[in-house]
Amino acid sequence: MDYVLQTYHLTKRYKDKVVVNDLNMTIKTGDIYGFLGQNGAGKTTTLRMLMGLIRPSAGEVELFGAELNGNRNKALERIGAIIEYPGFYLNLNAVDNLEIHRRLMGMGNKECIDEVLTTVGLLDAKHQKVRNYSLGMKQRLGIARALLHHPELLILDEPTNGLDPGGIKEIRQLFLDLTKQRGITFIISSHLLSEVEQVANRIGIIHQGRLLEEIDYETLQKKTRHYLEIKVDDGQRAAYVLEQKLNITDYLVTEPGILRLYEQLDQPEKINLTLTKNDIGVKKIVLSGDSLEDYFLKLTGGE
Ligand SMILES: Nc1ncnc2c1ncn2[C@@H]1O[C@H](COP(=O)(O)OP(=O)(O)O)[C@@H](O)[C@H]1O
Ligand SMILES: [Mg+2]
Repeated sequence: MDYVLQTYHLTKRYKDKVVVNDLNMTIKTGDIYGFLGQNGAGKTTTLRMLMGLIRPSAGEVELFGAELNGNRNKALERIGAIIEYPGFYLNLNAVDNLEIHRRLMGMGNKECIDEVLTTVGLLDAKHQKVRNYSLGMKQRLGIARALLHHPELLILDEPTNGLDPGGIKEIRQLFLDLTKQRGITFIISSHLLSEVEQVANRIGIIHQGRLLEEIDYETLQKKTRHYLEIKVDDGQRAAYVLEQKLNITDYLVTEPGILRLYEQLDQPEKINLTLTKNDIGVKKIVLSGDSLEDYFLKLTGGE
């Protein structure tokens, strides 16, 4: 199956306020799907609907190819989630915290606790009180807890929130490992582009309850690549000269006489000189392209 989860016109209204508006999301198997939006955009509300924790005002959630309303518990058994900050008994250690959860949920046997703690890299710290855990360790313990019943899809609300760059890197590696080794699909929300872009392979951008865009990270990167825009009197010959003399192959001719070079961006003088020497009139060379941040700001109306 291609899609782990799809929503159709998913909508949530509180009184007359539309908080989630006509969302059509698609999450593919093995995705680390970054659900990006400012505070108040509607992320948590959406994730709660995906989990069946709150009822949509309109629209549908399809999980593993079946409607959530249909065989709901079966589908939900295949999901693990942390919505909101994961709560633990701070005076207990990691093992005891997980054991309480395991018994409460009537899951597996005791061995699975060491297994998930190994997975998230907390085995050595398993006897420490959770009180003494760093934020990153607590996040990982939350993920360990969500992994106890071997879910195929993990839904995590702002898992990188408050982590330092090192912590984000570790979490990212954990997500990648889990995707690779166990084929787990992730939906992770964040209000920070910088965090999402470090972790996700697909990104859905939500703004004021609407899904503005759903895009592969690679495509997004291409859209936001920097380039040298060159205006010349003879585009075809210029392309030939750039290839032959400077070995430039990564370029586009966007209009007659206008080229975008995606390499040697730091060499405008050399490019200018080479073209001029070969009798090509150079009218303009400028470095352009949006940063990811610019792109995101434009999309969300620059707020
Ligand atoms: N139970 C509720 N009743 C009324 N409004 C709500 C409720 N839950 C969330 N909202 C509103 O919905 C909007 C989106 O909230 P939320 O989904 O938490 O956004 P995010 O997680 O992206 O920060 C906010 O304006 C919030 O105030
Ligand atoms: Mg939220």
